Amino acid sequence: MTHALGILGTGALAAHLVAGLRAGGFDAGIIVSPRGADVAASLAAAHGVQVAASNQEVVDRARMVLVCLPAAHGADILRGLTFSAKHSVCSAMAGVGPDVLAPLTGPARVCQAMMPGASNAIGAGPCLLFPAAQDWQTLLAHLGPVLVPTSQAEYETAAVFGAMSGASFILMQALAAWFERRGITPELARPLVAATLAGNAAVLRDAPHDWDAIIASVATPGGVTEQLVDALQQTGGLAAWDTGLDAVLDRMTKG
Ligand SMILES: NC(=O)c1ccc[n+]([C@@H]2O[C@H](COP(=O)([O-])OP(=O)(O)OC[C@H]3O[C@@H](n4cnc5c(N)ncnc54)[C@H](OP(=O)(O)O)[C@@H]3O)[C@@H](O)[C@H]2O)c1
Repeated sequence: MTHALGILGTGALAAHLVAGLRAGGFDAGIIVSPRGADVAASLAAAHGVQVAASNQEVVDRARMVLVCLPAAHGADILRGLTFSAKHSVCSAMAGVGPDVLAPLTGPARVCQAMMPGASNAIGAGPCLLFPAAQDWQTLLAHLGPVLVPTSQAEYETAAVFGAMSGASFILMQALAAWFERRGITPELARPLVAATLAGNAAVLRDAPHDWDAIIASVATPGGVTEQLVDALQQTGGLAAWDTGLDAVLDRMTKG
């Protein structure tokens, strides 16, 4: 075992995480699986990762193994690999948790994680991890805050944030598109949306229990915020998020 970290599944998520690990100061050896050859080659060139000849070589040469395989086929791919008690395996596959992982990777230790991806590449994305595992907490801390739920059930519900995170880009795109349709240049509209949401997110992050105080401080009674929120409620714009999140939770927990 010559590498600190092995990654199975060298695609978009692996690219984000390797970039974030290196930017966050993780300079130990990383070995990645060979499929996704273009991404693997670019990670080798930019971040000094080794590209294995096979998935089994990743497992044989790393103690910590992060599984970033397609969720639909991940279990079948892992079934063909051999792990030992020295391995610590973390699934980043949506909806594929320790119950699926443990029988396939035994006697390795197992856990699961969910993360946004793109923001981890700049050290600013949360990683949800369960169960707590010191080696993974230390590694994932290079990518942003590590949040550990208190139960498997809490993890499964919280992990829906992965879909919320991706959808938030679509929300920002829709908001910027409205400004652009009204004649605002993309150079103004996009940073306007991004900086507004980033600033508001920082306010919430720093005072997470003060919803009412925050909203009272920004929404003048009878003002334009109230007008927009009323319109969103009347058209089902806010309730639609509940409907969509419920559907993702069902898919991730019931298959
Ligand atoms: N993208 C994100 O930001 C994100 C965030 C959180 C969680 N996730 C989870 O991460 C996993 C990967 O997502 P992704 O977006 O990175 O997908 P992706 O870009 O499609 O990458 C998947 C990679 O797995 C490779 N692969 C397919 N079959 C393989 C096999 N038999 N052996 C080895 N590698 C194989 C693919 O290679 P080929 O290209 O050669 O087929 C591809 O390089 C998913 O389970 C997803 O739920 C993704």
